[in-house]
Amino acid sequence: MIPEEIEQYCGLHSSPEFPFLARLNRETHLTQVYPRMISGPMQGTLLRFLCNMIKPQKVLEIGTFTGYSAINLALGCGGTVHTIEVNPELETMIRKFIMEAGIQNKIILHIGEALKIIPRLQETWDLVYIDADKPNYLKYYNMVFPMLRQGGWIVADNALWDGKVLSKETADKETLGIIEYNEFVQNDERVENLLLPFRDGLMIARKL
Ligand SMILES: C[S@@+](CC[C@H](N)C(=O)[O-])C[C@H]1O[C@@H](n2cnc3c(N)ncnc32)[C@H](O)[C@@H]1O
Repeated sequence: MIPEEIEQYCGLHSSPEFPFLARLNRETHLTQVYPRMISGPMQGTLLRFLCNMIKPQKVLEIGTFTGYSAINLALGCGGTVHTIEVNPELETMIRKFIMEAGIQNKIILHIGEALKIIPRLQETWDLVYIDADKPNYLKYYNMVFPMLRQGGWIVADNALWDGKVLSKETADKETLGIIEYNEFVQNDERVENLLLPFRDGLMIARKL
């Protein structure tokens, strides 16, 4: 959404990526079919900073991919990050980089279907980051909401979905999932929310 040269300028005026995150980023691009799914330095740092500010004790991430955002969330918070990934082929790589980051004691990785795993986690969440399959976004929101503490945060990535949210008539099921999510959160009187036009859009909601 931001012009490429502006994004490059922002990168040049931000602290450099930690070396182990740069290695993870590179390995993701060398080994994964859809490396674009990685959050990357700018969003990773934003998530880390959000954790620095919110100081959550319990964080849930839905959609680990190769671990870039999970590691940033864990680096930023004083507590524990639970992260859920459905693809078992990613486990070795995720664990390798959690080790490289030296935060094995801060991340609990769950391999499996998020809709099955979330109800088994008996936690009170301070922050939930939704970044998995788009058609299930609203199910994740409704599932985690009762487990979110008052004043807790739900951040959902890809809330603009490359701008496709503007074309409901021609929307595919991923786009419809995001549109449904944005509309629900917007009308949910239990939260205060901001759709932030950062990268592919972050829908940030705070439980009142
Ligand atoms: C956009 S990527 C996540 C990117 C990651 N958060 C990051 O910032 O680098 C989405 C991930 O969600 C996973 N996923 C999709 N559907 C899922 C489900 N039902 N349960 C758990 N994970 C799922 C995918 O396998 C993929 O790795």
